[in-house]
Amino acid sequence: MFFHGIGRILVSLCLLQLVSCDSAPYQQSIPNQETIYLPEVPVNLAAALPYPERNPPTKEGVALGRMLFYDPILSQNGTVSCASCHQPEKAFTDGVALSRAGVSGAPLQRHVPTLVNVAWQDGLFWDGGAKDIESLTFGPLTHPDEMGQHVKELVQKLQQHEQYPQLFKKAFQTDSITSAFVTRALAQFERTLISGNSRYDRYIRNEAQGTLTSYELEGLSLFKKHCSNCHSSDLFTDNSYHNNGLDSEFSDANEALHFARGRITNQAADIGKYKTPTLRNIALTAPYMHDGRFSTLEEVLDHYSTGVTYSPSLALQLQQNNKLGIPLSSSDKNKIVSFLLTLTDSSFIQDKRYGNPFKTENQLQ
Ligand code: HEC
Ligand code: HEC
Repeated sequence: MFFHGIGRILVSLCLLQLVSCDSAPYQQSIPNQETIYLPEVPVNLAAALPYPERNPPTKEGVALGRMLFYDPILSQNGTVSCASCHQPEKAFTDGVALSRAGVSGAPLQRHVPTLVNVAWQDGLFWDGGAKDIESLTFGPLTHPDEMGQHVKELVQKLQQHEQYPQLFKKAFQTDSITSAFVTRALAQFERTLISGNSRYDRYIRNEAQGTLTSYELEGLSLFKKHCSNCHSSDLFTDNSYHNNGLDSEFSDANEALHFARGRITNQAADIGKYKTPTLRNIALTAPYMHDGRFSTLEEVLDHYSTGVTYSPSLALQLQQNNKLGIPLSSSDKNKIVSFLLTLTDSSFIQDKRYGNPFKTENQLQ
C-alpha cells in the first residue's frame, strides 16, 4: 500500500476490533453541551462547523491537538511533526512536489495537500481513500516514510511526559492515554483550521476592504464560467473526483497508485480521477496537483488551455466541441490568476491559534 496504507490496514483491524483503536471508553469523554467549543464560521462558507458525535470539540481538546500537531514526539525518532509537512505559513502545505521530510527521508508518492477547511471534506487524501480525520491520523503516524511510529510506543512516551498526562485528563477526563484520544485531539485541532477571510470573502460579504479591481472581477467571472463547476461554492471544491487531463496513461505499477480514485472504487471509469482541491490560499501552496508537477499558477492555466490530454475518464467539461481543454486567451489566463490571488487569507496565516504553540510569539493570552 502507499500513503497511509498502513493506516488503512490499521483502520480495518480496528473495525474488526482486532486492535484497540477507537474502542477507548469514550462514553466518559463526551463533554457536556456547555463545554463544546465551536469556532465561528464565516457565513459564506457554511452554517456551522461539522464534527462527529463521538468527538465534539472542546477548548482543551483543540489546545491539546494543536500541541500534538507541532510536537515531533509523535514520530519514531523524535524529529518529525505533522507540521514538518503541513506548515502553517504555507497554508499547511510544504512547498515541495514530493516531501522527503519523513523519518526515512524517502520521497512520498503524493504532494502534501492543504488542511484548510478540512472539516468540510467528504473524502480525504487525493483519492478520497480516507473518510474521517480521526482514523486517517493512524496513516501518517505509522507510515515508515512519514512518522514511522508504533502506536504503543507513542502512548508510552506520552504517558511518561511531564505535561501530556494532565492535558489528556483535562481534554478527555481520562487517566490513561490511548491512541484514539491522540487522534481525536488532533482531529479537533484540524477542524478549527478555517479560512474564510480573504479579500474575495470580504467582497462577497460586502465588508470593509472588500473590493476587487475590475481586472480581478473579470477574472472571477471567467472563473465562474470555466472553473467553478468543479471548484465550486466558497469552499472551492465540489467534494468530488475528476480527471483534469494531466496524463493519458495510468500505469498499474506500484500497486496501481496512478489509478487514483479508481484504486479506491475498483471502477475503470474512476481511473485517473483525483479529488478537486480547494483553491483557498492557492498562492501559498505551490507546487500544484497531486504530484506537484506545476510550479506556478501560470503553468496550471497553460495546462487547462493547451495541455489537457485525452484518456477515457477525462472530464467532459475539458473536451467540449471536439476540442481538448478550456479555450482561454492569454489575457483571460492573467485575469483568472489575478482573481486566484485574492483568495489568500493572511489573517488565517497569521492567526496565533493555528501557529506552533512551542514558539513564544504564538502563545495565547
Ligand atoms: C512526511 C510528510 C507528512 C507528515 C509528517 C504528515 N503528513 Fe499529512 N499528508 C501528507 C501527504 C503527502 C498527504 C496526501 C496523501 C495522499 O493523498 O495520498 C497528507 C494528507 C493529510 C490529510 C488529508 C488532507 C486532505 O485534504 O485530503 C490530513 C488530514 C493529514 N495529512 C493530516 C496529518 C496529520 C494530523 C499529521 C500528523 C499526525 C500528518 N498529516 C503528518 C504528508 C504528511
Ligand atoms: C472537471 C473539473 C475541473 C475543472 C473544470 C477545473 N478544475 Fe482545477 N482541478 C480539478 C482537479 C480534479 C484537480 C486536481 C487534479 C490532480 O491533482 O491530479 C484540480 C487542480 C487544480 C489546481 C491545483 C490545486 C492544488 O492545490 O494543487 C488549480 C490551481 C486549479 N485546478 C485551478 C483551476 C482553474 C483556474 C480552472 C478553470 C480554468 C480549473 N481548475 C478547472 C478539477 C477541475
